[in-house]
Amino acid sequence: MTKKPYNGIYRQTLFILGKLSVPVLTTYLHLDEINTVQEINAAVVNVSGRQRMLSQRTALFALRLVCTKDKQAQEELRSGLLADLDLMERSHKGLIEGDRDLKLPGHPSPTVQSMYFAAPLNLDRQVRQYIDQARAIARSSSEELIPDNPHLCYILTESSKNLVEALDSVVNQYQKESDTEQLAIHIYQAQLYEKSCAATAQAVSQGKKLEQALQELQQAQSQLVEKEKMSNLGCLVAGVAHEINNPVSFIYGNLNYATDYIQNLLDLLKVYEEEYPKPSVVLQEKIDEIDLEFLKEDLPKVMYSMEVGAKRIHQIVRSLRNFSRSDEELIQVVDIHEGIDNTLLILQNRLKAHGDNEGIEIVKEYSNLPLIECYSGQINQVLMNLIGNAIDELENLSSDVCSYPKKIKISTEFCHSGTIILRIADNGQGMTEDVKARLFEPFFTTKPVGKGTGLGLSISYQIVVEKHQGSIECISQPGEGTEFIIEIPVVQRQQEEITNELESVA
Ligand SMILES: Nc1ncnc2c1ncn2[C@@H]1O[C@H](COP(=O)(O)OP(=O)(O)OP(=O)(O)O)[C@@H](O)[C@H]1O
Ligand SMILES: [Mg+2]
Repeated sequence: MTKKPYNGIYRQTLFILGKLSVPVLTTYLHLDEINTVQEINAAVVNVSGRQRMLSQRTALFALRLVCTKDKQAQEELRSGLLADLDLMERSHKGLIEGDRDLKLPGHPSPTVQSMYFAAPLNLDRQVRQYIDQARAIARSSSEELIPDNPHLCYILTESSKNLVEALDSVVNQYQKESDTEQLAIHIYQAQLYEKSCAATAQAVSQGKKLEQALQELQQAQSQLVEKEKMSNLGCLVAGVAHEINNPVSFIYGNLNYATDYIQNLLDLLKVYEEEYPKPSVVLQEKIDEIDLEFLKEDLPKVMYSMEVGAKRIHQIVRSLRNFSRSDEELIQVVDIHEGIDNTLLILQNRLKAHGDNEGIEIVKEYSNLPLIECYSGQINQVLMNLIGNAIDELENLSSDVCSYPKKIKISTEFCHSGTIILRIADNGQGMTEDVKARLFEPFFTTKPVGKGTGLGLSISYQIVVEKHQGSIECISQPGEGTEFIIEIPVVQRQQEEITNELESVA
Protein backbone atom coordinates (compact mmCIF):
# COMPACT_ATOMS: atom_id res chain seq x y z
CA MET A 1 0.00 0.00 0.00
CA THR A 2 1.46 3.41 -0.93
CA LYS A 3 2.03 5.55 2.09
CA LYS A 4 0.27 8.85 2.17
CA PRO A 5 -0.04 11.28 5.02
CA TYR A 6 -3.41 11.05 6.72
CA ASN A 7 -4.56 14.47 5.58
CA GLY A 8 -3.91 13.29 2.02
CA ILE A 9 -7.54 12.13 1.99
CA TYR A 10 -8.67 15.60 2.76
CA ARG A 11 -6.35 17.04 0.12
CA GLN A 12 -7.65 14.52 -2.37
CA THR A 13 -11.19 15.56 -1.56
CA LEU A 14 -10.33 19.20 -2.11
CA PHE A 15 -8.63 18.23 -5.33
CA ILE A 16 -11.78 16.49 -6.54
CA LEU A 17 -13.89 19.46 -5.48
CA GLY A 18 -11.43 21.89 -7.04
CA LYS A 19 -11.50 20.02 -10.34
CA LEU A 20 -15.15 20.87 -10.69
CA SER A 21 -14.22 24.34 -11.77
CA VAL A 22 -17.78 25.35 -12.79
CA PRO A 23 -19.06 26.85 -9.57
CA VAL A 24 -22.62 25.65 -9.68
CA LEU A 25 -24.73 24.67 -6.75
CA THR A 26 -24.17 20.95 -7.31
CA THR A 27 -20.47 21.52 -6.66
CA TYR A 28 -21.29 23.18 -3.43
CA LEU A 29 -23.47 20.22 -2.60
CA HIS A 30 -20.71 17.74 -3.41
CA LEU A 31 -21.30 16.14 -0.07
CA ASP A 32 -20.05 12.59 -0.51
CA GLU A 33 -16.39 13.47 -0.19
CA ILE A 34 -17.06 15.99 2.54
CA ASN A 35 -19.03 13.43 4.52
CA THR A 36 -16.24 10.90 4.10
CA VAL A 37 -13.69 13.31 5.52
CA GLN A 38 -16.01 14.05 8.43
CA GLU A 39 -16.62 10.34 9.10
CA ILE A 40 -12.91 9.53 9.02
CA ASN A 41 -12.13 12.37 11.36
CA ALA A 42 -14.83 11.24 13.77
CA ALA A 43 -13.57 7.62 13.68
CA VAL A 44 -9.98 8.63 14.35
CA VAL A 45 -10.95 10.87 17.26
CA ASN A 46 -13.29 8.20 18.70
CA VAL A 47 -10.86 5.31 18.42
CA SER A 48 -7.99 7.30 19.87
CA GLY A 49 -10.26 8.35 22.73
CA ARG A 50 -11.33 4.75 23.21
CA GLN A 51 -7.69 3.73 23.64
CA ARG A 52 -7.59 5.89 26.75
CA MET A 53 -10.75 4.26 28.05
CA LEU A 54 -9.38 0.75 27.29
CA SER A 55 -6.14 1.48 29.16
CA GLN A 56 -8.18 2.42 32.23
CA ARG A 57 -10.53 -0.55 31.94
CA THR A 58 -7.78 -3.10 31.43
CA ALA A 59 -5.99 -1.74 34.50
CA LEU A 60 -9.22 -2.13 36.47
CA PHE A 61 -9.76 -5.71 35.15
CA ALA A 62 -6.17 -6.60 36.11
CA LEU A 63 -6.62 -5.22 39.62
CA ARG A 64 -9.90 -7.11 40.06
CA LEU A 65 -8.28 -10.29 38.73
CA VAL A 66 -5.62 -10.08 41.38
CA CYS A 67 -8.19 -9.41 44.10
CA THR A 68 -10.64 -12.17 43.08
CA LYS A 69 -10.33 -15.65 44.52
CA ASP A 70 -13.38 -17.09 42.75
CA LYS A 71 -12.15 -19.24 39.84
CA GLN A 72 -15.03 -18.59 37.50
CA ALA A 73 -14.92 -14.86 38.08
CA GLN A 74 -11.20 -15.01 37.45
CA GLU A 75 -11.81 -16.74 34.09
CA GLU A 76 -14.34 -14.17 33.07
CA LEU A 77 -11.98 -11.34 34.00
CA ARG A 78 -9.10 -12.97 32.12
CA SER A 79 -11.11 -13.31 28.91
CA GLY A 80 -12.56 -9.75 29.30
CA LEU A 81 -9.06 -8.43 29.80
CA LEU A 82 -7.69 -10.30 26.79
CA ALA A 83 -10.57 -9.13 24.57
CA ASP A 84 -9.97 -5.50 25.57
CA LEU A 85 -6.26 -5.90 24.96
CA ASP A 86 -6.92 -7.39 21.49
CA LEU A 87 -9.14 -4.45 20.69
CA MET A 88 -6.57 -2.03 22.06
CA GLU A 89 -3.85 -3.61 19.94
CA ARG A 90 -5.99 -3.63 16.81
CA SER A 91 -7.05 -0.01 17.30
CA HIS A 92 -3.47 1.02 17.90
CA LYS A 93 -2.37 -0.70 14.69
CA GLY A 94 -5.34 0.71 12.85
CA LEU A 95 -4.57 4.26 13.92
CA ILE A 96 -1.04 3.93 12.54
CA GLU A 97 -1.50 1.69 9.52
CA GLY A 98 -5.20 1.97 8.79
CA ASP A 99 -8.17 -0.38 9.33
CA ARG A 100 -11.02 -0.43 6.85
CA ASP A 101 -13.60 -1.94 9.24
CA LEU A 102 -12.81 0.56 11.95
CA LYS A 103 -12.90 3.30 9.25
CA LEU A 104 -9.35 4.27 10.13
CA PRO A 105 -7.25 5.66 7.28
CA GLY A 106 -3.87 5.20 9.03
CA HIS A 107 -1.03 7.42 7.86
CA PRO A 108 -0.98 9.80 10.81
CA SER A 109 0.20 13.35 10.27
CA PRO A 110 3.93 14.04 10.86
CA THR A 111 3.10 15.50 14.30
CA VAL A 112 1.15 12.42 15.37
CA GLN A 113 3.84 10.13 13.95
CA SER A 114 6.46 11.84 16.03
CA MET A 115 4.23 11.34 19.07
CA TYR A 116 4.06 7.62 18.29
CA PHE A 117 7.64 6.99 17.31
CA ALA A 118 9.83 9.70 18.83
CA ALA A 119 10.78 10.95 22.26
CA PRO A 120 9.49 12.21 24.57
CA LEU A 121 6.22 10.23 24.17
CA ASN A 122 7.19 7.18 22.14
CA LEU A 123 3.56 6.19 22.41
CA ASP A 124 3.87 3.18 20.11
CA ARG A 125 6.42 1.61 22.40
CA GLN A 126 4.40 2.52 25.50
CA VAL A 127 1.22 0.96 24.15
CA ARG A 128 2.96 -2.24 23.05
CA GLN A 129 4.69 -2.62 26.41
CA TYR A 130 1.47 -1.94 28.26
CA ILE A 131 -0.40 -4.54 26.21
CA ASP A 132 2.39 -7.07 26.76
CA GLN A 133 2.37 -6.47 30.51
CA ALA A 134 -1.40 -6.70 30.72
CA ARG A 135 -1.43 -9.93 28.69
CA ALA A 136 1.19 -11.32 31.03
CA ILE A 137 -1.17 -10.73 33.95
CA ALA A 138 -4.10 -12.27 32.10
CA ARG A 139 -1.98 -15.36 31.52
CA SER A 140 -0.43 -15.52 35.04
CA SER A 141 -1.27 -18.54 37.12
CA SER A 142 -3.56 -18.08 40.11
CA GLU A 143 -0.55 -18.21 42.41
CA GLU A 144 1.15 -15.36 40.59
CA LEU A 145 -1.91 -13.17 40.98
CA ILE A 146 -0.71 -11.30 44.03
CA PRO A 147 -0.87 -7.52 44.72
CA ASP A 148 2.84 -6.91 44.13
CA ASN A 149 2.87 -8.78 40.83
CA PRO A 150 5.42 -6.69 38.80
CA HIS A 151 3.15 -6.66 35.71
CA LEU A 152 0.31 -5.31 37.79
CA CYS A 153 2.56 -2.64 39.33
CA TYR A 154 3.68 -1.62 35.86
CA ILE A 155 0.13 -1.43 34.53
CA LEU A 156 -1.24 0.53 37.43
CA THR A 157 1.57 3.09 37.24
CA GLU A 158 1.34 3.47 33.46
CA SER A 159 -2.44 3.62 33.32
CA SER A 160 -2.52 6.39 35.87
CA LYS A 161 0.41 8.40 34.58
CA ASN A 162 2.70 8.08 31.50
CA LEU A 163 0.47 6.10 29.19
CA VAL A 164 -2.70 7.95 29.98
CA GLU A 165 -0.97 11.30 29.54
CA ALA A 166 0.53 10.22 26.21
CA LEU A 167 -2.86 8.92 25.04
CA ASP A 168 -4.48 12.20 26.08
CA SER A 169 -1.92 14.15 24.09
CA VAL A 170 -2.48 12.14 20.95
CA VAL A 171 -6.28 12.37 21.30
CA ASN A 172 -5.92 16.15 21.62
CA GLN A 173 -3.72 16.25 18.55
CA TYR A 174 -6.19 14.15 16.53
CA GLN A 175 -9.00 16.42 17.69
CA LYS A 176 -7.03 19.53 16.73
CA GLU A 177 -6.28 18.19 13.26
CA SER A 178 -9.89 17.19 12.80
CA ASP A 179 -11.10 20.67 13.82
CA THR A 180 -8.67 22.32 11.42
CA GLU A 181 -9.87 20.15 8.58
CA GLN A 182 -13.51 20.76 9.39
CA LEU A 183 -12.84 24.47 9.42
CA ALA A 184 -11.06 24.26 6.08
CA ILE A 185 -14.02 22.35 4.67
CA HIS A 186 -16.46 24.91 5.97
CA ILE A 187 -14.41 27.74 4.54
CA TYR A 188 -14.18 25.95 1.24
CA GLN A 189 -17.91 25.27 1.25
CA ALA A 190 -18.58 28.92 1.99
CA GLN A 191 -16.31 29.97 -0.86
CA LEU A 192 -17.98 27.56 -3.23
CA TYR A 193 -21.37 28.78 -2.13
CA GLU A 194 -20.33 32.38 -2.68
CA LYS A 195 -19.03 31.50 -6.13
CA SER A 196 -22.18 29.63 -6.99
CA CYS A 197 -24.29 32.60 -5.86
CA ALA A 198 -22.23 34.93 -8.04
CA ALA A 199 -22.56 32.53 -10.97
CA THR A 200 -26.31 32.26 -10.42
CA ALA A 201 -26.62 36.06 -10.27
CA GLN A 202 -24.58 36.34 -13.45
CA ALA A 203 -26.75 33.75 -15.17
CA VAL A 204 -29.91 35.56 -14.04
CA SER A 205 -28.64 38.91 -15.30
CA GLN A 206 -27.59 37.36 -18.60
CA GLY A 207 -31.01 35.77 -18.87
CA LYS A 208 -32.63 39.16 -18.26
CA LYS A 209 -30.47 40.81 -20.90
CA LEU A 210 -31.38 38.09 -23.34
CA GLU A 211 -35.05 38.49 -22.55
CA GLN A 212 -34.79 42.26 -23.05
CA ALA A 213 -32.98 41.79 -26.35
CA LEU A 214 -35.71 39.41 -27.46
CA GLN A 215 -38.40 41.90 -26.47
CA GLU A 216 -36.65 44.70 -28.37
CA LEU A 217 -36.37 42.44 -31.38
CA GLN A 218 -40.06 41.60 -31.21
CA GLN A 219 -40.94 45.27 -30.86
CA ALA A 220 -38.75 46.24 -33.79
CA GLN A 221 -40.34 43.47 -35.82
CA SER A 222 -43.89 44.51 -34.99
CA GLN A 223 -43.02 48.14 -35.75
CA LEU A 224 -41.72 47.07 -39.12
CA VAL A 225 -44.89 45.11 -39.84
CA GLU A 226 -46.91 48.08 -38.62
CA LYS A 227 -44.99 50.51 -40.83
CA GLU A 228 -45.48 48.24 -43.79
CA LYS A 229 -49.22 48.05 -43.13
CA MET A 230 -49.44 51.80 -42.62
CA SER A 231 -47.59 52.53 -45.80
CA ASN A 232 -49.92 50.21 -47.75
CA LEU A 233 -52.83 51.92 -46.06
CA GLY A 234 -51.29 55.27 -46.92
CA CYS A 235 -51.32 54.39 -50.63
CA LEU A 236 -54.92 53.24 -50.44
CA VAL A 237 -56.01 56.30 -48.51
CA ALA A 238 -54.15 58.65 -50.82
CA GLY A 239 -55.90 57.07 -53.84
CA VAL A 240 -59.36 57.31 -52.26
CA ALA A 241 -58.71 60.84 -51.04
CA HIS A 242 -57.66 61.89 -54.51
CA GLU A 243 -60.87 60.50 -55.99
CA ILE A 244 -63.06 62.21 -53.40
CA ASN A 245 -61.19 65.48 -53.61
CA ASN A 246 -62.66 66.61 -56.93
CA PRO A 247 -66.36 66.03 -56.25
CA VAL A 248 -65.94 67.57 -52.81
CA SER A 249 -64.33 70.59 -54.39
CA PHE A 250 -67.40 70.99 -56.68
CA ILE A 251 -69.69 70.94 -53.69
CA TYR A 252 -67.49 73.15 -51.58
CA GLY A 253 -66.76 75.58 -54.42
CA ASN A 254 -70.43 75.91 -55.40
CA LEU A 255 -71.80 76.22 -51.91
CA ASN A 256 -70.92 79.93 -51.76
CA TYR A 257 -72.81 80.56 -54.97
CA ALA A 258 -75.72 78.46 -53.74
CA THR A 259 -75.79 80.46 -50.49
CA ASP A 260 -75.73 83.75 -52.45
CA TYR A 261 -78.45 82.55 -54.84
CA ILE A 262 -80.62 81.40 -51.98
CA GLN A 263 -80.08 84.69 -50.17
CA ASN A 264 -81.06 86.52 -53.38
CA LEU A 265 -84.19 84.39 -53.72
CA LEU A 266 -85.09 85.03 -50.09
CA ASP A 267 -84.58 88.77 -50.65
CA LEU A 268 -86.75 88.54 -53.74
CA LEU A 269 -89.41 86.72 -51.73
CA LYS A 270 -89.31 89.48 -49.19
CA VAL A 271 -89.85 92.13 -51.91
CA TYR A 272 -92.77 90.05 -53.28
CA GLU A 273 -94.33 89.90 -49.83
CA GLU A 274 -93.98 93.64 -49.44
CA GLU A 275 -95.39 94.34 -52.91
CA TYR A 276 -98.17 91.76 -52.63
CA PRO A 277 -99.07 91.59 -48.93
CA LYS A 278 -102.31 89.73 -49.74
CA PRO A 279 -101.43 86.49 -51.58
CA SER A 280 -104.02 84.61 -53.59
CA VAL A 281 -105.75 81.57 -52.05
CA VAL A 282 -103.61 79.17 -54.13
CA LEU A 283 -100.43 80.97 -53.11
CA GLN A 284 -101.48 81.01 -49.45
CA GLU A 285 -102.17 77.28 -49.58
CA LYS A 286 -98.70 76.65 -50.98
CA ILE A 287 -97.13 78.96 -48.35
CA ASP A 288 -98.85 76.98 -45.60
CA GLU A 289 -97.97 73.66 -47.17
CA ILE A 290 -94.26 74.35 -47.32
CA ASP A 291 -94.24 76.21 -43.98
CA LEU A 292 -92.57 79.19 -45.58
CA GLU A 293 -91.75 80.94 -42.32
CA PHE A 294 -89.83 77.92 -41.00
CA LEU A 295 -88.16 77.40 -44.38
CA LYS A 296 -86.94 81.00 -44.45
CA GLU A 297 -85.52 80.60 -40.97
CA ASP A 298 -84.03 77.13 -41.42
CA LEU A 299 -82.63 77.41 -44.94
CA PRO A 300 -79.64 79.62 -44.01
CA LYS A 301 -78.86 77.20 -41.15
CA VAL A 302 -79.05 74.23 -43.50
CA MET A 303 -76.76 76.02 -45.91
CA TYR A 304 -74.37 76.80 -43.08
CA SER A 305 -74.20 73.20 -41.90
CA MET A 306 -73.69 72.05 -45.48
CA GLU A 307 -70.86 74.49 -45.79
CA VAL A 308 -69.29 73.35 -42.49
CA GLY A 309 -69.75 69.72 -43.52
CA ALA A 310 -68.26 70.24 -46.96
CA LYS A 311 -65.39 72.18 -45.44
CA ARG A 312 -64.77 69.31 -43.06
CA ILE A 313 -64.88 66.73 -45.87
CA HIS A 314 -62.43 68.93 -47.71
CA GLN A 315 -60.19 69.01 -44.64
CA ILE A 316 -60.54 65.28 -44.03
CA VAL A 317 -59.62 64.56 -47.60
CA ARG A 318 -56.62 66.80 -47.19
CA SER A 319 -55.59 65.11 -43.98
CA LEU A 320 -56.15 61.68 -45.54
CA ARG A 321 -53.77 62.73 -48.27
CA ASN A 322 -51.41 63.99 -45.60
CA PHE A 323 -51.67 60.64 -43.93
CA SER A 324 -49.59 59.28 -46.75
CA ARG A 325 -47.52 62.43 -47.21
CA SER A 326 -47.52 63.62 -43.63
CA ASP A 327 -45.23 66.59 -44.08
CA GLU A 328 -47.61 68.42 -46.36
CA GLU A 329 -49.98 69.97 -43.86
CA LEU A 330 -48.88 73.01 -41.90
CA ILE A 331 -49.27 73.55 -38.19
CA GLN A 332 -52.08 75.97 -37.37
CA VAL A 333 -53.13 77.79 -34.23
CA VAL A 334 -56.69 76.75 -33.44
CA ASP A 335 -59.45 76.77 -30.88
CA ILE A 336 -60.02 73.11 -30.07
CA HIS A 337 -63.59 73.84 -28.89
CA GLU A 338 -64.42 75.05 -32.38
CA GLY A 339 -63.13 71.76 -33.76
CA ILE A 340 -65.33 69.80 -31.33
CA ASP A 341 -68.40 71.91 -32.13
CA ASN A 342 -67.88 71.52 -35.88
CA THR A 343 -67.51 67.78 -35.49
CA LEU A 344 -70.73 67.64 -33.49
CA LEU A 345 -72.45 69.69 -36.16
CA ILE A 346 -71.47 67.21 -38.84
CA LEU A 347 -72.57 64.33 -36.65
CA GLN A 348 -75.78 66.19 -35.66
CA ASN A 349 -77.95 63.91 -37.73
CA ARG A 350 -76.75 60.84 -35.82
CA LEU A 351 -77.33 62.50 -32.46
CA LYS A 352 -80.92 63.56 -33.08
CA ALA A 353 -83.88 61.42 -32.03
CA HIS A 354 -85.64 59.59 -34.87
CA GLY A 355 -88.07 56.69 -34.92
CA ASP A 356 -87.51 54.41 -31.95
CA ASN A 357 -84.19 56.03 -31.24
CA GLU A 358 -84.52 58.64 -28.52
CA GLY A 359 -81.28 60.39 -29.50
CA ILE A 360 -78.03 61.06 -27.69
CA GLU A 361 -77.48 63.96 -25.32
CA ILE A 362 -74.20 65.83 -25.58
CA VAL A 363 -72.88 67.24 -22.31
CA LYS A 364 -70.12 69.78 -22.78
CA GLU A 365 -67.80 70.81 -19.96
CA TYR A 366 -65.42 73.23 -21.61
CA SER A 367 -62.68 74.94 -19.59
CA ASN A 368 -60.83 78.09 -20.52
CA LEU A 369 -58.30 76.86 -23.06
CA PRO A 370 -55.57 78.69 -24.92
CA LEU A 371 -55.37 78.35 -28.68
CA ILE A 372 -53.26 75.33 -29.48
CA GLU A 373 -50.77 74.61 -32.21
CA CYS A 374 -51.67 71.49 -34.14
CA TYR A 375 -52.36 69.93 -37.48
CA SER A 376 -55.98 70.94 -37.17
CA GLY A 377 -57.37 68.74 -39.93
CA GLN A 378 -55.81 65.71 -38.28
CA ILE A 379 -57.00 66.63 -34.79
CA ASN A 380 -60.52 67.02 -36.21
CA GLN A 381 -60.15 63.57 -37.68
CA VAL A 382 -59.34 62.25 -34.19
CA LEU A 383 -62.41 63.99 -32.76
CA MET A 384 -64.54 62.54 -35.52
CA ASN A 385 -63.22 59.03 -34.82
CA LEU A 386 -63.70 59.19 -31.06
CA ILE A 387 -67.13 60.84 -31.08
CA GLY A 388 -68.11 58.58 -33.99
CA ASN A 389 -67.13 55.49 -31.98
CA ALA A 390 -69.11 56.71 -28.96
CA ILE A 391 -72.19 57.24 -31.18
CA ASP A 392 -71.72 53.78 -32.77
CA GLU A 393 -71.64 52.28 -29.30
CA LEU A 394 -74.75 54.13 -28.03
CA GLU A 395 -76.70 53.56 -31.26
CA ASN A 396 -76.13 49.86 -30.81
CA LEU A 397 -77.79 49.75 -27.43
CA SER A 398 -81.38 48.66 -27.79
CA SER A 399 -83.86 50.45 -25.52
CA ASP A 400 -84.56 47.13 -23.68
CA VAL A 401 -80.96 47.01 -22.45
CA CYS A 402 -80.58 50.73 -22.05
CA SER A 403 -83.08 52.24 -19.63
CA TYR A 404 -81.04 55.39 -19.04
CA PRO A 405 -80.61 58.45 -21.30
CA LYS A 406 -77.70 57.96 -23.71
CA LYS A 407 -75.03 60.55 -23.15
CA ILE A 408 -71.66 61.63 -24.47
CA LYS A 409 -69.74 63.91 -22.17
CA ILE A 410 -66.99 66.02 -23.68
CA SER A 411 -64.76 67.92 -21.30
CA THR A 412 -61.58 69.92 -21.68
CA GLU A 413 -58.95 71.04 -19.24
CA PHE A 414 -55.78 73.13 -19.38
CA CYS A 415 -52.73 71.80 -17.57
CA HIS A 416 -50.15 74.30 -16.42
CA SER A 417 -47.45 71.92 -17.60
CA GLY A 418 -48.36 73.23 -21.06
CA THR A 419 -50.85 70.64 -22.33
CA ILE A 420 -54.56 70.38 -22.83
CA ILE A 421 -56.60 67.36 -21.83
CA LEU A 422 -59.67 66.30 -23.74
CA ARG A 423 -62.04 63.67 -22.39
CA ILE A 424 -64.74 61.97 -24.43
CA ALA A 425 -66.88 59.65 -22.34
CA ASP A 426 -69.97 57.66 -23.24
CA ASN A 427 -72.32 55.69 -21.03
CA GLY A 428 -72.39 52.66 -23.33
CA GLN A 429 -71.59 49.04 -22.59
CA GLY A 430 -67.85 49.55 -22.20
CA MET A 431 -65.30 46.98 -23.39
CA THR A 432 -63.77 43.73 -22.28
CA GLU A 433 -60.05 43.55 -21.44
CA ASP A 434 -59.43 41.68 -24.72
CA VAL A 435 -60.96 44.44 -26.83
CA LYS A 436 -59.16 47.11 -24.81
CA ALA A 437 -55.82 45.39 -25.33
CA ARG A 438 -56.23 45.50 -29.13
CA LEU A 439 -57.92 48.88 -29.53
CA PHE A 440 -55.10 50.65 -31.32
CA GLU A 441 -54.24 47.75 -33.62
CA PRO A 442 -54.84 48.62 -37.25
CA PHE A 443 -57.86 46.79 -38.68
CA PHE A 444 -59.08 45.62 -35.28
CA THR A 445 -62.83 46.00 -35.20
CA THR A 446 -65.77 44.36 -33.48
CA LYS A 447 -68.21 45.96 -35.87
CA PRO A 448 -69.92 44.11 -38.72
CA VAL A 449 -68.35 44.06 -42.17
CA GLY A 450 -69.11 47.29 -43.97
CA LYS A 451 -69.64 49.20 -40.74
CA GLY A 452 -66.12 49.42 -39.33
CA THR A 453 -62.69 49.11 -40.88
CA GLY A 454 -60.89 49.08 -37.53
CA LEU A 455 -58.67 51.98 -38.52
CA GLY A 456 -60.20 54.90 -36.60
CA LEU A 457 -58.24 54.43 -33.39
CA SER A 458 -54.98 53.31 -34.95
CA ILE A 459 -54.97 56.46 -37.09
CA SER A 460 -55.97 58.57 -34.08
CA TYR A 461 -53.10 57.06 -32.09
CA GLN A 462 -50.66 57.91 -34.82
CA ILE A 463 -51.94 61.48 -35.05
CA VAL A 464 -51.94 62.16 -31.30
CA VAL A 465 -48.85 60.29 -30.18
CA GLU A 466 -46.53 60.41 -33.15
CA LYS A 467 -47.62 63.58 -34.91
CA HIS A 468 -48.34 65.73 -31.85
CA GLN A 469 -46.19 64.13 -29.10
CA GLY A 470 -49.31 63.65 -27.01
CA SER A 471 -50.94 60.65 -25.39
CA ILE A 472 -54.17 58.76 -25.78
CA GLU A 473 -55.58 56.51 -23.10
CA CYS A 474 -58.73 54.51 -22.71
CA ILE A 475 -60.58 53.76 -19.49
CA SER A 476 -63.32 51.22 -19.89
CA GLN A 477 -64.92 48.24 -18.22
CA PRO A 478 -67.87 46.10 -19.25
CA GLY A 479 -71.05 47.85 -18.13
CA GLU A 480 -69.18 50.98 -17.07
CA GLY A 481 -69.03 52.97 -20.31
CA THR A 482 -65.88 54.20 -22.04
CA GLU A 483 -63.72 57.25 -21.66
CA PHE A 484 -60.93 58.30 -24.00
CA ILE A 485 -58.43 60.78 -22.59
CA ILE A 486 -56.24 62.73 -24.96
CA GLU A 487 -53.44 65.01 -23.90
CA ILE A 488 -51.65 67.25 -26.37
CA PRO A 489 -49.06 69.98 -25.92
CA VAL A 490 -50.24 73.54 -26.51
CA VAL A 491 -47.08 74.31 -28.46
CA GLN A 492 -45.71 71.92 -31.05
CA ARG A 493 -41.97 71.59 -31.20
CA GLN A 494 -40.26 71.47 -34.54
CA GLN A 495 -39.46 68.01 -35.77
CA GLU A 496 -35.72 68.77 -36.02
CA GLU A 497 -35.74 69.82 -32.35
CA ILE A 498 -37.19 66.45 -31.33
CA THR A 499 -34.80 64.53 -33.57
CA ASN A 500 -31.82 66.42 -32.11
CA GLU A 501 -33.01 65.72 -28.59
CA LEU A 502 -33.48 62.02 -29.29
CA GLU A 503 -30.04 61.84 -30.86
CA SER A 504 -28.41 63.56 -27.88
CA VAL A 505 -30.13 61.10 -25.49
CA ALA A 506 -28.96 58.15 -27.60
N1 LIG B 1 -66.61 54.17 -27.22
C1 LIG B 1 -66.45 52.86 -27.43
N2 LIG B 1 -67.21 51.95 -26.75
C2 LIG B 1 -67.06 50.63 -26.95
N3 LIG B 1 -66.16 50.08 -27.82
C3 LIG B 1 -65.40 50.93 -28.52
C4 LIG B 1 -65.47 52.34 -28.37
N4 LIG B 1 -64.54 52.91 -29.18
C5 LIG B 1 -63.92 51.91 -29.81
N5 LIG B 1 -64.42 50.71 -29.43
C6 LIG B 1 -63.99 49.39 -29.88
O1 LIG B 1 -62.74 49.52 -30.55
C7 LIG B 1 -62.80 48.95 -31.84
C8 LIG B 1 -61.82 49.69 -32.74
O2 LIG B 1 -62.25 51.01 -32.94
P1 LIG B 1 -61.79 51.78 -34.24
O3 LIG B 1 -62.36 53.14 -34.20
O4 LIG B 1 -60.33 51.65 -34.39
O5 LIG B 1 -62.42 50.92 -35.38
P2 LIG B 1 -63.95 50.81 -35.79
O6 LIG B 1 -64.76 51.89 -35.15
O7 LIG B 1 -64.37 49.41 -35.53
O8 LIG B 1 -63.85 51.03 -37.35
P3 LIG B 1 -63.61 52.47 -38.09
O9 LIG B 1 -63.36 53.47 -37.04
O10 LIG B 1 -62.41 52.22 -38.94
O11 LIG B 1 -64.85 52.69 -38.84
C9 LIG B 1 -64.24 49.06 -32.22
O12 LIG B 1 -64.59 48.10 -33.20
C10 LIG B 1 -64.93 48.78 -30.89
O13 LIG B 1 -64.97 47.39 -30.60
MG1 LIG C 1 -64.11 53.90 -35.23
